[in-house]
Amino acid sequence: MEERLQKVMSNCGVASRRASEKMILEGRVRVNGVIVRELGTKVDPDKDRIAVDGKTLEAQPKHYYLFNKPKGVITTSSDDQGRATVMDYFRKEKDRIYAVGRLDQNTEGLLIMTNDGELANILMHPSRLVDKTYEVKVKGRIADSVLQHLADGVELKDGMTAPADVYYIGYDPKTNLTSVEITIHEGRNRQVRRMFEFFGYQVHNLRRVQYAFLTLSGVKRGAYRKLTREEVAELYKYK
Ligand code: URA
Repeated sequence: MEERLQKVMSNCGVASRRASEKMILEGRVRVNGVIVRELGTKVDPDKDRIAVDGKTLEAQPKHYYLFNKPKGVITTSSDDQGRATVMDYFRKEKDRIYAVGRLDQNTEGLLIMTNDGELANILMHPSRLVDKTYEVKVKGRIADSVLQHLADGVELKDGMTAPADVYYIGYDPKTNLTSVEITIHEGRNRQVRRMFEFFGYQVHNLRRVQYAFLTLSGVKRGAYRKLTREEVAELYKYK
């Protein structure tokens, strides 16, 4: 299948798409022996020979992991303040991988990690509407009317939230915490926290327990497992 040269380069793990574009403009990339400086150039990675700085690209094996991110860990590849990042948990994996989307530092739970740029783009595209389920614990009790309002949509500063599925799990008098499960289909920045903050609730604990059909079942906090071939194929159906 033909794709843009910079996309093929980033899928092969050469560099990010942006950095690959720079390499093309600098004349460092050859397709079938000819230097290409045109960013829109389409290539077929199965047929065309692509070389960067004289070195022919090999298709990189794809990796897919389901990670149970602990609280306090940052979803980034490196942190200049030396804080713990998701990459610290994947030190023994050789190939460069990254997170599909992000979870806030204080949010725990399910994060997909991969080096498959195509799948990452599919899942993160705003039109894809991948369901994400969160277990939320907030201080105090929550009125049914608030739960209904959360489900119907909340007017945030970046617009109304789409209808969500909201389930009351229970109230624990010992901790004075109410647990709620909420499934959203969008992926706005700090969306769940902001939805509860709209009603004056500070989120005490936030955990993503499901992403599409994938759950945390069997994966302890800080651990990860490989996705099966069938699971990857199922995720590709969002294309
Ligand atoms: N919503 C949030 O508020 N934080 C997350 O990390 C994910 C969803």
